[in-house]
Amino acid sequence: MKKIAIITGASSGLGREFVRIINKKKNIQEIWAVARNQDKLDKLKAQTGEKVRTLSMDLSDLSQIETLGQMLSDNDVKICYLINNAGYGKFASYDDLSVEESVNMLNLNINAVVAVGLTCIPYMCRGAHIINIASQASFQPLPYMNLYSASKAFVRNYTRSLHIELKDSGITATAVCPGWMKTDFFSRADIGAARNISSFLGMSSPEKVAKKAIADADRGKDLSIYSLYVNICHICSKLLPQKFIIHCWLHQQHIDPYSRPSQQ
Ligand SMILES: NC(=O)c1ccc[n+]([C@@H]2O[C@H](COP(=O)([O-])OP(=O)(O)OC[C@H]3O[C@@H](n4cnc5c(N)ncnc54)[C@H](OP(=O)(O)O)[C@@H]3O)[C@@H](O)[C@H]2O)c1
Repeated sequence: MKKIAIITGASSGLGREFVRIINKKKNIQEIWAVARNQDKLDKLKAQTGEKVRTLSMDLSDLSQIETLGQMLSDNDVKICYLINNAGYGKFASYDDLSVEESVNMLNLNINAVVAVGLTCIPYMCRGAHIINIASQASFQPLPYMNLYSASKAFVRNYTRSLHIELKDSGITATAVCPGWMKTDFFSRADIGAARNISSFLGMSSPEKVAKKAIADADRGKDLSIYSLYVNICHICSKLLPQKFIIHCWLHQQHIDPYSRPSQQ
């Protein structure tokens, strides 16, 4: 049986860093790198080597996740790491996005995490790890990133419950909660909305977040938080009223929800 890792959203940012780290693990024989853009995946393969098998798939489409399930049953594999990393956000108010755009974000950030996980668990054994990428945005509601923060709260809560439910199988599930990271996230998130997100405190590198996430998963932790700043925000979110934290967020972003936004 071939020991493999599956990494979604592998073509850039945090996902690419996960591929680089897992690539160095001698016990992993193949990495299934999933994303939509085949050119970027080819570039990744050229940089990382033969271990990487590229799968061009749109994970917001359930039928493509069924194809992944078919591939697993056609190959003699054992999954050692599943990293559900593909996801995106929009800096937008509820009415800046169409119904289709809103639902697409939820399909990827929530439904794909559940569907890929349930598809992969039957191919995992004792000692295997599921790593689901949530966000610092999961700690509290974030107006003007409303769907994103709600979707990441789902991922965090779901993953921590899953970790308990998987105890008897010896599989761990880790929710990773990064703060802002320097990646392509911003080019997809910024749609030039009238009320825009413009302050990005505590920016960190995806490489450091990925390293900490793998180390925490290997230790069997159900939560992975990188950096002092994000840890302090996590503690504050537990101690302070959410209304106060939401107010701080709006203040930080220079957004007054009671005034008419200036058109850009
Ligand atoms: N950057 C931040 O500040 C930040 C902070 C906290 C959490 N996060 C989370 O970290 C994760 C990785 O994001 P990132 O920062 O590395 O952003 P990124 O550089 O934009 O990477 C997103 C990855 O997801 C893939 N992807 C997007 N839509 C997809 C789809 N429908 N099907 C399959 N793959 C898809 C993209 O590849 P293709 O375009 O080729 O499909 C890309 O590989 C996300 O879950 C994000 O929410 C990011």
